[in-house]
Amino acid sequence: MPAMPISGGKAGQSDHRTNHFIARRQLILQQRKSLPIASVEKRLVEEVKKNDTLIVVGETGSGKTTQLPQYLHYAGFCQDNKIIGITQPRRVAAVTVAKRVAEECNVELGQKVGYSIRFDDMTTAATRIKYMTDGLLVREALLDPHLSKYSIIIVDEAHERTVHTDVLLGLLKNVQCARSKTSEINRQTDQKNFRQDQSEGFVLKPCQTSKLAPLKLIIMSASLDARCFSEYFGGAKAVHVQGRQYPVDILYTYQPEPDYLDATLITIFQIHLEEGPGDILSFLTGQEEIESVERLVQERIQQLPQENNKITTIPIYSSLPSDQQMNAFKPAPSGFRKVILATNIAETSVTIPGIKYVIDPGLVKARSYNPVTGMESLIIIPTSKAQALQRSGRAGREGPGKCFRLYPESEFVKMVDSTVPEIKRCNLSNVVLQLKALGIDDIIGFDFMEKPSRMAIVKSLEQLLLLGALTDDYKLSNPVGVQMARLPLDPMYSKALIVANEFKCLEEMLIVVSMLSVESIFYFPREKLEEARAARKNFSSSEGDHITLVNVYRAAADCLEKGKNSNMKEKTMEKTLNKWCRENFINYRSLRHARDIHSQIQGHVQQMGLNILSCGEDMLQFRRCLTASFFLNAAIRQPDGSYRAMASGQNVQIHPSSVLFRTKTDCVIFNELVRTNQTYVRNLTRVDPLWLPELAPQYYTEG
Ligand code: CDP
Ligand code: MG
Repeated sequence: MPAMPISGGKAGQSDHRTNHFIARRQLILQQRKSLPIASVEKRLVEEVKKNDTLIVVGETGSGKTTQLPQYLHYAGFCQDNKIIGITQPRRVAAVTVAKRVAEECNVELGQKVGYSIRFDDMTTAATRIKYMTDGLLVREALLDPHLSKYSIIIVDEAHERTVHTDVLLGLLKNVQCARSKTSEINRQTDQKNFRQDQSEGFVLKPCQTSKLAPLKLIIMSASLDARCFSEYFGGAKAVHVQGRQYPVDILYTYQPEPDYLDATLITIFQIHLEEGPGDILSFLTGQEEIESVERLVQERIQQLPQENNKITTIPIYSSLPSDQQMNAFKPAPSGFRKVILATNIAETSVTIPGIKYVIDPGLVKARSYNPVTGMESLIIIPTSKAQALQRSGRAGREGPGKCFRLYPESEFVKMVDSTVPEIKRCNLSNVVLQLKALGIDDIIGFDFMEKPSRMAIVKSLEQLLLLGALTDDYKLSNPVGVQMARLPLDPMYSKALIVANEFKCLEEMLIVVSMLSVESIFYFPREKLEEARAARKNFSSSEGDHITLVNVYRAAADCLEKGKNSNMKEKTMEKTLNKWCRENFINYRSLRHARDIHSQIQGHVQQMGLNILSCGEDMLQFRRCLTASFFLNAAIRQPDGSYRAMASGQNVQIHPSSVLFRTKTDCVIFNELVRTNQTYVRNLTRVDPLWLPELAPQYYTEG
């Protein structure tokens, strides 16, 4: 064997890399050992062995999400190629945590450790620890009702009580019960066969029924309210993991802040200029707000003297592409202060190291549902007390911290104790469709942890009936209902794709559904409003926003196509697209996300055997298709210029962001309801009111 050169360019470099690698491994090992959960590893594993259902409660950051699955894997819970599944309410958490755990295990992501979220699967046959969204596991149950691949399922962040978590809990309770029965039957059959074997001496036949061990369930939660979970699971045992929490100073404003974005901006710079070192975590309600504060901070930095301008901003929200989400975990460049601008995702789902200051405007974007009108909308509401405490706690993870609440103490006192579970404030069509597809027909009798109102259930049954997903006796219809349940979309969007197939404009509808699945494609910076408006005119269609979105998507695709034709590398092409987006005031992140979603849904509809045809120039055809799809969301212009939503009788206005704003359009169909001080409709297309009875006779009768 030739001797290895001791010094010299390449070897020196690789030595350096090896050293770096060893240092990193040691650091990780040390971090893992010092987590609060590490001291109770043995006890936790014992409890999981002893109990079929276990509730684990622990402070955020104590190591539940990253460590427990590794402990259980090590303890042998993945024998016979079984998988440990961990569900998260949010995509970001599933991705970031899986990456972290893969690194901790020193394996490539997608091998032993992987994640699977809607539109992105990073698992292989080798995956044993699988992070996923709770919604995705509900979908898996459609194909594998006993979830037979899993030995353990950990429902993480259960306190969030998202609609998927609640459905999943009910479902898992059923699966657990069924699997205990299967294993009981197997045991009895085995014993019987065994006896026969001994007495009659014939060879044991292989057991026909699959041998399923009972399913272990672990419910993990950050808040202290373990009792409700324990009660729901028949008095399941709860264990508490002690966290580490340093004192946090809480500061309130004297007066309510009229503009919380402005107040946020001022507070960021106040902290930066007056407080000691430490990173800032600032809570906002959504992508749009985050991006606008990000721009404002950047602008203000320019005005600061050089010795004071060392701030970097990092956004984190659910729909951010995963490679960009990871930026939040990287330390700021030396000498810089990191300002994380986050949605409530950073309350418990992700733990970002280095935070010493928290800014909390006390607001959150939430789904709200009116069962009388059947309309769901997104509204900005005050947080609960539990959320406010959770947010301030983020400042005291590594040392004493400060939390700036941008509201007076009197407002805190008025907040509700804990957030109302989402299942009680959302449209249930999706839930009902999925339960029906799982063969659960009696929705009202389903064992929900907290039952949604009867009215909300009835309303969604009605809606599904109108969409043709259910038969007259409320069974899942075939093929429409079955196809709809298979698509990972809101039932109305799933139906739109099926309708578009018939109208021969699926190509356009695919684009529309993808573009509507992301937050705002256009942005209108306050300081460049005119420029932004002018830019949008290049894509605007007088028919409305849907066709405008199609135009944007196609223009972006052309931009990429040109790059491809001139043999550009992938990276350069993305850069070109980014530049094109900036010039056109289009949100690059949203567009990229929409393109990802597009390619995924495209795969689904191709599998379903639908034909992706384009209606070409025939936009009349496409508008008719939109009408046939979204007929439940039609609004008619009133003599006073306002609009009346047909289904609810509600008075609505056209949102200023629509291309139809300030136009006199008789009738529109819309995709979104936004409630601020007024109720607005967004994403509109002008349609002929006579098309409604023609294309949706099940709902509109002429006259
Ligand atoms: O689930 P829980 O909130 O109890 O804690 P965790 O998510 O398991 O996080 C444990 C530790 O891992 C935290 O201190 C994080 O700083 C660290 N971590 C990380 O460095 N990178 C991630 N992507 C996730 C966690
Ligand atoms: Mg966690």
